[in-house]
Amino acid sequence: MSRPRIAVLASGGGSNLQALIDHFQALGDGRAADIVLVASNKSDAGALGRARAAGIPAAVIASPRTPNGDAFLALLERYTIDLVVLAGYLRLVPPEVTRRYAGHMLNVHPAPLPAFGGPGMYGMRVHRAVLASGARMSGPTVHFVDELYDHGATIAHWQVPVIDGDDAHTLADRVLRAEHLLYPRVVQAVASGAITLGDDGKVSPPFFRADAHLLPLDPALDDASLGALLDEARTMPSAVSNRIAATETSNTVH
Ligand code: GRF
Repeated sequence: MSRPRIAVLASGGGSNLQALIDHFQALGDGRAADIVLVASNKSDAGALGRARAAGIPAAVIASPRTPNGDAFLALLERYTIDLVVLAGYLRLVPPEVTRRYAGHMLNVHPAPLPAFGGPGMYGMRVHRAVLASGARMSGPTVHFVDELYDHGATIAHWQVPVIDGDDAHTLADRVLRAEHLLYPRVVQAVASGAITLGDDGKVSPPFFRADAHLLPLDPALDDASLGALLDEARTMPSAVSNRIAATETSNTVH
């Protein structure tokens, strides 16, 4: 059976695209989808170079400020795209496209929403706003996309501490690290159908277990340890599920 097909849209360097390519490569046959198209509104976006290096078709979306929704949709349909992943895409996606891909389009925003999102809140502006607010926590928010900037239902947020002496760049780097760990895992979960957006606008099931105590990102830990903490907060650890299975078997009356 063929896997769902992903288009990644990016305007910039594409480090989140790279994280997704690497994550899927590490999962091998366990990956839930294939990235079959990378598109950008900027012909010189680093993301397009990363796509070509990975052997993924790269396209430029003709980009007046409000791109033509029909041409946009035609591109996605030409590649029979099932799931659209925004990764640093700085244009509003036309409503024809967000409607067609409702529940099948994701974005990562580098701060808590709705507090630090909306029109004009991108790049360093976001991190400067967090610092100016005096907030002690920031961190990426992954959400479904609707017709407004940074507005659709939130799937997952991971807290990242603001550290004394931070400027926008040091904070951005710390948050970006969290994005690279969190976003591919959410993409995998949505692509596999494990997480869906209901007609009521609710995400189900929640990405993190209700009883998980996911701590804010600890910058001292390496990526493998942080990834393991994220995975643990999501799934029932196998030791626990084995115990439950054993209990259920021993309780069965024959
Ligand atoms: C990330 O911080 C993401 O949260 C935001 O844009 C940035 C993209 O970075 N939406 P990159 O192009 O993936 O390196």
